[in-house]
Amino acid sequence: MGKERIIVAMDVGTSKTTVLVGDVDNADNLYIVGFGEAKTRGIEKGVIVKSNDVIRSIKEAIDMAESTTGSKISSVIANIGGYHLECRNEEEEIAFESSKKTITTSDLGELSAKATSKVADEDHEIIHIIPKKYILDEEYEVLDPTGLYGSRIRGEFHIVLNKTNSYMNLKRVIEAAGVKVLDFVANPIASSTAVLYPEEKEMGVAVLDIGAGTTDLAVYKDGSIEYIKAFPVAGNHITMDIAHRFKLSKEEAEELKIAYGTALVEHTEETIIEIYPRGSEEPLHINSLELADTIEARLSEIFDLVREELEIMKFLNKINGGIVLTGGVANTIFIKELAEAIFKTDVRIGRPKEFKGFAEKIALPQYSTAVGMLLFKKNSINTASTPAVDHSSNVSIFEFGKTLIEKLKNLF
Ligand SMILES: Nc1ncnc2c1ncn2[C@@H]1O[C@H](COP(=O)(O)OP(=O)(O)OP(=O)(O)O)[C@@H](O)[C@H]1O
Ligand SMILES: [Mg+2]
Repeated sequence: MGKERIIVAMDVGTSKTTVLVGDVDNADNLYIVGFGEAKTRGIEKGVIVKSNDVIRSIKEAIDMAESTTGSKISSVIANIGGYHLECRNEEEEIAFESSKKTITTSDLGELSAKATSKVADEDHEIIHIIPKKYILDEEYEVLDPTGLYGSRIRGEFHIVLNKTNSYMNLKRVIEAAGVKVLDFVANPIASSTAVLYPEEKEMGVAVLDIGAGTTDLAVYKDGSIEYIKAFPVAGNHITMDIAHRFKLSKEEAEELKIAYGTALVEHTEETIIEIYPRGSEEPLHINSLELADTIEARLSEIFDLVREELEIMKFLNKINGGIVLTGGVANTIFIKELAEAIFKTDVRIGRPKEFKGFAEKIALPQYSTAVGMLLFKKNSINTASTPAVDHSSNVSIFEFGKTLIEKLKNLF
């Protein structure tokens, strides 16, 4: 009998902290058996600015996840976001003395170590070493060369790096909330893992996760990750623009945006929205076209920034699979139409897939990162012969009562 594997993902976002407890069964299905969420306090643009507040938010989210599963959570995998993320593509080769050499995991480990040594420095922490492809004997492209004969092997790797301090701070804050951090997954990698289809990765695709504090870009080409970048502009900026324009508090502006906001003036019907700002007896009348105009302006700025980046990096003509929008802001009405007008390519909204459990609650763009963390970790365990992840610690395996897991599964 194989064993059940429990993985706990913690997405500490700028607006919310989400904890998902995932259970991977023998047939490799991912069941989400626990969900916890709290409003994040103390993070701006994906960076910790008040650690005690962040610790409190994390504790709240963990408490809720524990009460939904009935088990204690002692360790998690956490996400790394923010604009400190960087990436590099590196290639390395090893030639063997014998042409009949059987390639082993340690050969692949040596290859990835060689590639990593080129980018390692004191200020950066390596988050991922993702093998993109292996070329055997300068000829055959293989996904996993372990066990095959060869005289030389070349590996192409995508390496994701983060500024050491911000990574250490996040780890410290999570551990201060009482759980161990077993591993990290970078935001853009996680979100893409949850929303993309293999064909899109082959054709070339850009994923944009627009959250509250940052917009994360990931570009895939020829089946694998090619580029990531985070921009420090996202949903909170839209909210603040609305607050300034209509003289509202941040909370009122957020409520107005979620309830009535649209992304394209051209498609929006003109109505007068009546709201009562706190402490005021008089209603405030807001024209829906003015609200749409405020949102459209900021979203256009974000899309222009991304478009420029894609152009500079020469990806614009290579993303034949189009653009996938995810993250909370992807819920904005008419955002797909606005993005299509700016990027002049196909755009779709990406929701997390390939999981069961809590589906109605979780199959939303704002949960792509948390679900993607579980899927990425699950997949990297399955391909353990490749050095897919630097932090190769075991997943968190808990003494969950078997009956509880079974009971929860029966609910879905
Ligand atoms: N229906 C909606 N319409 C418009 N905006 C929305 C909607 N739902 C959520 N948002 C916006 O999405 C943002 C939150 O998205 P998300 O939960 O993905 O962010 P986060 O992960 O907390 O932040 P980050 O990833 O930037 O650190 C907020 O700015 C929120 O206002
Ligand atoms: Mg996020």
